Amino acid sequence: MIFDNHNRPITYLRLAVTDRCNLRCFYCMPEEGIKYLPKHQLLTYEEMERLVRVLARLGVSKIRITGGEPFVRNGLMDFLWRLKAIEGVEELHITTNGVLTQPLVPELVQMGIGSVNLSIDTLDRERFRQITRRDELPAVRGTLDALLAHGIPVKLNAVVMEGKNTEDIPLLAELTRDHPVDVRFIEEMPFNGEGSHYPVLNWTHRRILQELQALYPGLKRQPDSPFSTSTTYQVPGYQGTIGIIAAFTRTFCGTCNRIRMTAQGTLKTCLYDNGVLDVRQLMRSGATDSELTAAFLKAFAHRPKNGFEAEHERGPVTESMSTIGG
Ligand code: GTP
Ligand code: 5AD
Ligand code: SF4
Repeated sequence: MIFDNHNRPITYLRLAVTDRCNLRCFYCMPEEGIKYLPKHQLLTYEEMERLVRVLARLGVSKIRITGGEPFVRNGLMDFLWRLKAIEGVEELHITTNGVLTQPLVPELVQMGIGSVNLSIDTLDRERFRQITRRDELPAVRGTLDALLAHGIPVKLNAVVMEGKNTEDIPLLAELTRDHPVDVRFIEEMPFNGEGSHYPVLNWTHRRILQELQALYPGLKRQPDSPFSTSTTYQVPGYQGTIGIIAAFTRTFCGTCNRIRMTAQGTLKTCLYDNGVLDVRQLMRSGATDSELTAAFLKAFAHRPKNGFEAEHERGPVTESMSTIGG
């Protein structure tokens, strides 16, 4: 296993397989969308498979597939089967908006997917349409039902936004009464293709917690899984759990075991850095596996201590989450 310069193990790769998306979430991109990369600038599946093989040899054992929306890329299921077969890849997870996912759920079960994280910011169709600028809530609910019916572990991601979905906090939290899901409320980050929506973040993890405690005076803190981004709670007697992700406040950097590969093959050792290694260029200029390994090790030895240091080094964040993979 490889440790970074702050003694954190690097075991988790977030791999963005596309920058394209079939939704237009308010917190992720402007209404007109973002300029998508031409196909030749995306890593091919063969290139992604190769870099996963190299990273798995260094001790990366957990892969999360992200995007954009992963399922808009053709051939994704075949690629997932190939990733699953790589020695050292112990866990394969996926983060999806759920629009196209429902029919694929049985095959995901078959391949032994570890879990699915589903973005669902509201349970109200009109609010969903306003946030995502598309009328796809029924499809997403269908995916959620299918995941639950097949017993796939599910986390629900809801970005909390003033004036958009704060009335959904109780509705989403109540899903944990009868379902074994982990509903996570997320602080909004400025990765929307434009820059920050607010001078000061109004829904911080503290305020979200206060809201939940007012709703559920008996709310109990639960242990978090190691390296977790979220702080976990439970309403006694409920089947599921409620999490809060301080994505903007960045309270969990001290245990961060994650690296990211963007769809164009740029390595990020922190969500808030600007990309530290052009892996696509390295591979396309003929680098051997040992040259790739050396380049990765060098990057891991120079990781920023936390997201604030990374942001300070790169300057203000404006890119879309769709190009990074979240
Ligand atoms: P697991 O722990 O594997 O379930 O993944 P996750 O919860 O980190 O992944 P997911 O893709 O569901 O992301 C949930 C939210 O956490 C998104 O808003 C991500 O952008 C945010 N997030 C994930 N990793 C990081 C990180 O390293 N730093 C920050 N600040 N936010 C992160
Ligand atoms: N702030 C916080 N979370 C975001 N996500 C996308 N954009 C943002 C943002 N600006 C979340 C989505 C998805 C996950 C990968 O990242 O809700 O579930
Ligand atoms: Fe698509 Fe996810 Fe961005 Fe929404 S947050 S537009 S679902 S990539």
